[in-house]
Amino acid sequence: MKHLINSRDFDIQTIEGIFKKAKTFKESGFTNLLKDRLIITIFFENSTRTKSSFEVAAKRLGATVVSLDVSQSSSSKGETLFDTAANLDAMGPDAIVVRHKNAGVPKILSNYVNCPIINGGDGAGAHPTQAILDLFTIKEELGKVKGKKIAIVGDIKNSRVANSNVELLSRFGLEVIMVAPPHFMPKTKNFRQTHDINEIIDEVDIIMSLRTQTERHSNQIYASLKDYAKDFCITKELVKDRNILLLHPGPVHRNIDIDDDMLKDPRCKVLEQVKNGVFTRMAVLEYLING
Ligand code: NCD
Repeated sequence: MKHLINSRDFDIQTIEGIFKKAKTFKESGFTNLLKDRLIITIFFENSTRTKSSFEVAAKRLGATVVSLDVSQSSSSKGETLFDTAANLDAMGPDAIVVRHKNAGVPKILSNYVNCPIINGGDGAGAHPTQAILDLFTIKEELGKVKGKKIAIVGDIKNSRVANSNVELLSRFGLEVIMVAPPHFMPKTKNFRQTHDINEIIDEVDIIMSLRTQTERHSNQIYASLKDYAKDFCITKELVKDRNILLLHPGPVHRNIDIDDDMLKDPRCKVLEQVKNGVFTRMAVLEYLING
């Protein structure tokens, strides 16, 4: 049984296959490839778009979706996560999509169920479908990606989106440059790092801006996010007329991560990422369930 716990679970050939399928879905719309299949989503942590993206993707494939409302479920009555998972599994789903604030939970759950588990984000761990949709968007915009340079900007240390993207994008031959203040910079010697975005702005093809993960900080780091924005907000004054693709997984802290002008700029692909999220998740669901 295949699961998608982190981006490494899919080899390059599998990812290329997913992209091909996603492209077909984008061009031709709805299908019935998962008719009569049941997909359960269970999100123990808030989600603005990942949960709805998976649910829309499942419905576009003709599947039935049951979304467990965690606040109404027995988890809030003290049932362990594993019992909840085993009980869900007993209902015979064809896949379970899970998000949890603790890294590692989807992996552990995969030992308790008889269907594919898809990680919809686990703490600061991984967010594989986000990286897949990001790479899909980059490929769609730039064509060949090998040798392209991407600056990942912001709270890299606490970001599961960054973790999955760093792994996947470098495997596809992109050069990752980490841009962050010292306390948001992960300890690694494998990637170029800088605290000053001006240092790399002339060489990058792509900027991926990240949201400051305040919910994962044990103590407040900035007096206000405006202090962070002074150095790391992606503004029109910074980007000027450079040929740079701008990405963000959302939710965007407006005028902190990216300013109003750049959010409106055609080089900013935030909504295209959301659109591609549905098609790539359709392809992931179809691959894991139908094989
Ligand atoms: C991200 C997440 O939840 O990890 N959002 C998303 O899934 N699109 C990023 C974030 O919350 O900052």
